[in-house]
Amino acid sequence: MSDETTLPLYLRGRFAPVPEEHSAADLTVRGSLPPDLDGRYLRNGPNPLPGEDKGHWFTGSGMLHGIRLGRGRAEWYRNRWVRTRELEGHPFVRRDFSIDLTATPANTHVIRHAGTVLALCEVGLPYWVTPSLETVGPYDFAGRLKTAMTAHPKEDPVTGELHLFGTGFAPPCLTYHRVTAEGLLLDSRPIDVPGPTMMHDFAITEHHIVWMDLPVVFDPALAGRGGMPYRWDETYGARLGLMSRTPGSTDVRWYEIDPCYVFHVGNAYEDAQGRIVLDVVRYDNAGFRNAWSDIGGTTGPGGPAGVPEPGHPQAHAVLHRWTLDTATGRVTESPLDDRDAEFPTHNETLTGRPNRYLYTVSGDGIVKHDLTRHTSHVYETPGARHAGEAVFVPAADGTGEDEGWLLSLISDDDGEAGELLVLDAADLSVQAEVELPYPVPSGFHGSWLPGPGPAA
Ligand SMILES: [Fe+2]
Repeated sequence: MSDETTLPLYLRGRFAPVPEEHSAADLTVRGSLPPDLDGRYLRNGPNPLPGEDKGHWFTGSGMLHGIRLGRGRAEWYRNRWVRTRELEGHPFVRRDFSIDLTATPANTHVIRHAGTVLALCEVGLPYWVTPSLETVGPYDFAGRLKTAMTAHPKEDPVTGELHLFGTGFAPPCLTYHRVTAEGLLLDSRPIDVPGPTMMHDFAITEHHIVWMDLPVVFDPALAGRGGMPYRWDETYGARLGLMSRTPGSTDVRWYEIDPCYVFHVGNAYEDAQGRIVLDVVRYDNAGFRNAWSDIGGTTGPGGPAGVPEPGHPQAHAVLHRWTLDTATGRVTESPLDDRDAEFPTHNETLTGRPNRYLYTVSGDGIVKHDLTRHTSHVYETPGARHAGEAVFVPAADGTGEDEGWLLSLISDDDGEAGELLVLDAADLSVQAEVELPYPVPSGFHGSWLPGPGPAA
C-alpha cells in the first residue's frame, strides 16, 4: 500500500479519487429539502483511474456525480466516469495537442443547453451525457464545432443563446462561437491574439464579449512531459478585449492591464454610464505560482513541478473588479475583498446584467459578497471539511436576486465522507444536508438541471 503522504496533493485527502462507480437510492436528509428543488445537481471533476497519476490535477479522467432531488426527498446519488475515448481504451498522446478533438478528459464542467447535457473540458470537444450520467459520445454540434470548447460557455438569460470559445495551440489560437437557444451553432469567428495561452474563462454583457488574454502561455518545451504545458510569462503582456456581440463582428478593442491570471469570472455587465464592469478571481504572480505548483504545474522555465518558491505565501487569489471605460480607454482595477477566493458564482438569470451578489469558496467556507453594500458574510464548513463551488438555484416563487438556494458538495479532509449542502442564499443558513453514501472528492464545476427529466 502506498504511503499516502508521498502522493501529490491532488491524489490524496479530499482530492483522493474514488475507485468505483455507485448508485444509491433514498438518501438520508438532515433538515428539510425545499419541495421546489425538483431536479438534478450534477458536478464534474478529475478522477484518475486507480493507481493512475497523469502529473496534474487538471488531467485526470472526468467523473460526474449526480444527486436527484424532488418532493422534498433526495431520491438518488450516482457517480459515473465520462466514457471518453481514452477511458474506453483508445489512449491519446497529449503531445499531439488535440489535433484529435476527442482527446479530452471531459473533467471540468457539466451543463445543459437546448436539452443536451454536456461534460466539458477546454482541450477538446464536449462529451454528450444523459441526465442519468451515461455517456453518449463526443459532441460537435452537428459537425459545426471545429475547435475545442471552453468549459465555461455563457448562456444569455434573455436570448437563451450559448456563447463559447475554443483555444488552439496554433493559429487560430482563439475562436468565438455562438449557439442559438435551439442548440444550432451558427457563428464561428477567429479572434486575433498574439499566441496560445491557457484561456479558461471569458465574459458576456448585453452587447459585448469580454476576452482575458493573460500571460500563462503554452510552452512547447514543456510538451510531452505529462502534466500541463503552460507557464507564466510576463513578456506576453496582459489585456482585456471588448468585442461586439453583433454577428460577424471580429474587431476587438484591447485594454492593457497589470499582469495577472484569472481562471474564473464572477459576472460582467454594462453599468449606467456604459462602462464594462468585470468581476473575477485574480491571481498575482506569486499566488498563481503557488496554486499552480500545488496541483502539479511547472512554476517557470526550468522550475520543477510541485516545488513552490521559498518564502511565497500560500496560494492567494482575491475577488477583483475591472471597470473598462469605453470613452477614455482606461481600465480601473480594485480588489473587492481580501479573502482567498475561488469558484465565483451568481444568480445566472443575471448573467451579463448588473448583479448585486456573488458567492465564492474561501478556505473552509462559502462567502456571500454584497457588491452594493461592500459587505460579505461566511458560512463556515464545520470540521475538517471543504465546500465545493456553490451553485445558485432560484426559488420557484422568488423574485429577489438572492431568493433561492446554494448547492455545494462537501468533501472531508480524509476522503471518507461527502454530503450535498443546501444553504438558504439569503442568509447562508443551513436548509438541508444530504448524506452521500460514498465520498466525493473535491472537484470543479456543476449545474442544477431543473425538472424531472427522463426516468432515473
Ligand atoms: Fe473552471
